[in-house]
Amino acid sequence: MTQRIAVLGAGPSGLAQLRAFDAARRAGADVPEIVCFEKQSDLGGMWNYTWRTGLDQHGEPVHASMYRYLWSNGPKECLEFADYSFEEHFGRPIASYPPRPVLRDYIMGRIERSGLREQIRFNTAVHSVEYSEETGKFTVTVRELEEDRMVSEEFDWVVVATGHFSTPNAPAFEGLSQFPGRVLHAHDFRDACEFTGKDLLLVGSSYSAEDIGTQCYKYGAKSVTFSYRSAPMGYDWPDAFSERPLLTRVEGNTAHFIDGSSQDVDAIILCTGYQHHFPFLPDDLTLRTSNRLYPQDLYKGVFWIDNPRLVYLGMQDQYYTFNMFDAQAWLARDVILGRTALPDAEAMRADSEAWFARENACAGSDDDIDFQAAYVRDLVDRSDYPDFAIEEVAEMFKQWQRDKREDILGYRNRSYRSTITGTLAPPHHTRWMEAMDDSLQAFLDDSRDLEEQPEPRRPPAPVAATAGLPAEPVRRRA
Ligand SMILES: Cc1cc2nc3c(=O)[nH]c(=O)nc-3n(C[C@H](O)[C@H](O)[C@H](O)COP(=O)(O)OP(=O)(O)OC[C@H]3O[C@@H](n4cnc5c(N)ncnc54)[C@H](O)[C@@H]3O)c2cc1C
Ligand SMILES: NC(=O)c1ccc[n+]([C@@H]2O[C@H](COP(=O)([O-])OP(=O)(O)OC[C@H]3O[C@@H](n4cnc5c(N)ncnc54)[C@H](OP(=O)(O)O)[C@@H]3O)[C@@H](O)[C@H]2O)c1
Repeated sequence: MTQRIAVLGAGPSGLAQLRAFDAARRAGADVPEIVCFEKQSDLGGMWNYTWRTGLDQHGEPVHASMYRYLWSNGPKECLEFADYSFEEHFGRPIASYPPRPVLRDYIMGRIERSGLREQIRFNTAVHSVEYSEETGKFTVTVRELEEDRMVSEEFDWVVVATGHFSTPNAPAFEGLSQFPGRVLHAHDFRDACEFTGKDLLLVGSSYSAEDIGTQCYKYGAKSVTFSYRSAPMGYDWPDAFSERPLLTRVEGNTAHFIDGSSQDVDAIILCTGYQHHFPFLPDDLTLRTSNRLYPQDLYKGVFWIDNPRLVYLGMQDQYYTFNMFDAQAWLARDVILGRTALPDAEAMRADSEAWFARENACAGSDDDIDFQAAYVRDLVDRSDYPDFAIEEVAEMFKQWQRDKREDILGYRNRSYRSTITGTLAPPHHTRWMEAMDDSLQAFLDDSRDLEEQPEPRRPPAPVAATAGLPAEPVRRRA
């Protein structure tokens, strides 16, 4: 009997799984039946934008954490699919830092061109997954949102690709309930223009804080104060930015910090990260982890060791993204197809614990990047996913970190060379600080010339001499 596979989620990870099986099918393999359940009405996962926050029109939690005017925070050359280049998709080279709609178009293009949309059941939210020791099968129960109907089906394998940057981690701080301005988590942030002219406090010192803070400044916020728990970001911030230690309490519109300092603010945005959250899974199948490069209990970061027919994709903290999800999906496919055998549980656990310990020994972001490169290398070497210059990409990530330290408001104006096509990206026609229109059309409009751009509206951050660069930001370790 044909095996049945349930893929939960049609974001980049779930789509990688569909593409992996399609590649095998095109090469002549007999491929199992695949059903991908997606609660949104389209594919793309986090890369879909919605104005909605809270619950959607069907009463399901809104998945989106992305916002208007979001641009890639890393060079696109670091996430390029090894089997589908940006040049193949757009028909020409494009700049290194695209806005969200451009990356969404790229993700969708690979799937549309493979004709895989029909494997996805949209508007279908997974509500429970149960495993029967007796039958060796999973029962997946979904809510068909438009019909408001619960339906159950049996599967031999379940691939969890529901993402982990959607359920907020929202700590409480004394006085927040009496704060006279707006308080929100980054998950609900949508439009920076709401904060034009305001003094903002952003709690957190990672990517969301940095990106939402710089973006609000770009769209006219008066000042941005970051509050860190472990360590400041340490960038060479323009005068309107400051970094303070942990928020202790709020009195009226005054925020007080642990060093005794205080600051009056108009709005508070909690950029305090996300929780891995799988409300549809029973306790014994649930991954419990902080946001780290090697979550425990997964063999090769993918197979649930206590029941390897349950596969998790994309659950790592991420430098590598789309190409790492692909490498995971290709390996998962080969195990499902019986091309690659898994070792016994004891060996899987020993392997997983060795990686976990290796991550713990990393000291700083360069080590972290090398760690994730080694992990992706280990995956790619185990399947026929097209080999790509993983280690060269790691060096690009390190250069990207240096670019940010040199110019936190200008690093997105830099260009990188694709390791897939060898093409050096052209500069974008507009400097990031001046690029207010984040649409696909505006980004691809090459009738505009970089030379013709007006000088930046705000003075760019001073470019530090190499010797005087701010210290490497300490990456959080959860
Ligand atoms: C604000 C923000 C900015 C980011 N920027 C970048 C960036 O610039 N570059 C980069 O490479 N990465 C970025 N990322 C990381 C991003 O998460 C990954 O690029 C990628 O989207 C992860 O893919 P995924 O498929 O694992 O998860 P997701 O993209 O989150 O997709 C998960 C899918 O599962 C669906 N789903 C969830 N629960 C259910 C359910 N119960 N039933 C059915 N379907 C369900 C969701 O609707 C969604 O479609 C960013 C993340 C955030 C939060
Ligand atoms: N433009 C973009 O591309 C863009 C924009 C935003 C986000 N992203 C992506 O989104 C993902 C998530 O990033 P993220 O920044 O939201 O999460 P994150 O990287 O997990 O960072 C969470 C931050 O919250 C802090 N924090 C957690 N609990 C706290 C508490 N109780 N009190 C104070 N601070 C607390 C952490 O501090 P510690 O250091 O002390 O742990 C850390 O600074 C990343 O993959 C990132 O790349 C991308």
